[in-house]
Amino acid sequence: MRSLRTGLSLAALLTGAAMFLTAPAAHAADTPLRDLAAAQGKVIGTAVTGSKLTGTYGSVTGTQFSSLTPGNAMKWGTVEPTQGSFDWSEADQIVAFAQAHHQQVRGHTLVWHNQNPGWLTNGSWTTAQLSTLLQNHISTEVGRYKGAITAWDVVNEAFNEDGTLRPTLWSNGLGSGYIAQALTWAHAADPDAKLYINDYNVEGVNAKSTALYNLVKSLKAQGVPIDGVGLQAHLVLGQVPSTLQQNIQRFADLGVDVAITELDVRMQLPATNASLAQQKADYKSVVAACAAVTRCVNVTVWGFTDSDSWVPSTFPGYGAATPYDENYAPKPAYYGIAEALGGTTTTPPPTNGACTATYSVSSQWNTGFTGQVTIACSGASLSSWKANWTYGAGQRITQAWNATCTQSGAAVSCANASYNGSVPDGGSVTFGFNGTWSGGNSVPTVTLG
Ligand code: G3I
Repeated sequence: MRSLRTGLSLAALLTGAAMFLTAPAAHAADTPLRDLAAAQGKVIGTAVTGSKLTGTYGSVTGTQFSSLTPGNAMKWGTVEPTQGSFDWSEADQIVAFAQAHHQQVRGHTLVWHNQNPGWLTNGSWTTAQLSTLLQNHISTEVGRYKGAITAWDVVNEAFNEDGTLRPTLWSNGLGSGYIAQALTWAHAADPDAKLYINDYNVEGVNAKSTALYNLVKSLKAQGVPIDGVGLQAHLVLGQVPSTLQQNIQRFADLGVDVAITELDVRMQLPATNASLAQQKADYKSVVAACAAVTRCVNVTVWGFTDSDSWVPSTFPGYGAATPYDENYAPKPAYYGIAEALGGTTTTPPPTNGACTATYSVSSQWNTGFTGQVTIACSGASLSSWKANWTYGAGQRITQAWNATCTQSGAAVSCANASYNGSVPDGGSVTFGFNGTWSGGNSVPTVTLG
């Protein structure tokens, strides 16, 4: 197991929606996940948003996890929105937090087809120019964090589902050799960082993971600096591939490390006791598969709380994909991770006796959006309800249906209509609304009153 890398040279860094009606137990298992993982020679990580690293979000991040991955802060579009003008603020903040909490940082990601700056994607470049741009990007970013990053996701999502190379800015412009070049440039900028190729739908043995396997094998044979393979693991409830451990093992046998880099398990909303129990089993089997293979070094969840997950906005109607609910209460999935890491079983807090309210944005355009809130009860019921939230980015509700909504400043309160105040045990009610936004449309936490 690689030890934490410290001793960062950067002066800047040195200075530098659901609500339970019945409050669930707010505390997780006695032994933090990071300690359980360390006892197994593993690292447990989470993706984070820099601006949220205070309060409960910050304390859970600091106490439970031994590795952080910036969810968006190190992507090209974030760090160089305008050519030659850099914004490292969120990335620096996350690295500084990690150092203060003795955590590793996984750098994510240097070469991808998404979240690139407009000036780059809209430009027309010769092969030589594109190559120079990529080399400079890698040298600048990896060089800036030299010594502070344990592992880089150097190349992200290079393959199609059938195992052919994905056509992107990079493969179209530079040919398939861009992967070896990117790894070589990253190695030159920080020879001690572990360099990974990362992808999704490569958790089981399939055409895509076999293409990745063949690529890694050939890169190794050519002496290209490749240290690891990242299996993202954005999974669907009940669908952990049965060949996961076998697949991890075959990569390990090539002489590279493996990390589960973006684990989440999405489910249809509202969550039920049964779906949360299945999710616990899914998390447990993924972590156990990693724990069983010596070279599987890190399991990272893609956001530890349902309030910081990409799932609801990308898959409307799905969510609850992470180990903690929106209120930072550990879910059964949390205990699944703990158990797979050898933790003594603590009975999870009961998931019954609660009604939850989940907010999601179902569509969004330049100035407007349509959202919905689903109130679901399990082991409890309501005869009337009020859903309350506070917008953090100036959004305004313009119209609502199946509820009466009022907004005062940032505070929104939506009361049931005459016909849907009753939410029976096991039932749910959804209301919708249109609104306007500018600058940001983040998902608020909804409380029921
Ligand atoms: O920051 C802007 C904000 O200023 C703007 O007002 C708002 C309006 O939509 O958007 C905000 O940016 C969003 C960004 O997340 C930060 O919240 C983008 O729209 C949104 O597209 C972006 O989504 C990210 C997604 O990658 C983009 O593909 C997710 O947060 C991030 O979790 C997700 O992560 C990826 C991994 O990098 C690679 N593997 C898949 C994984 C899930 O998609």
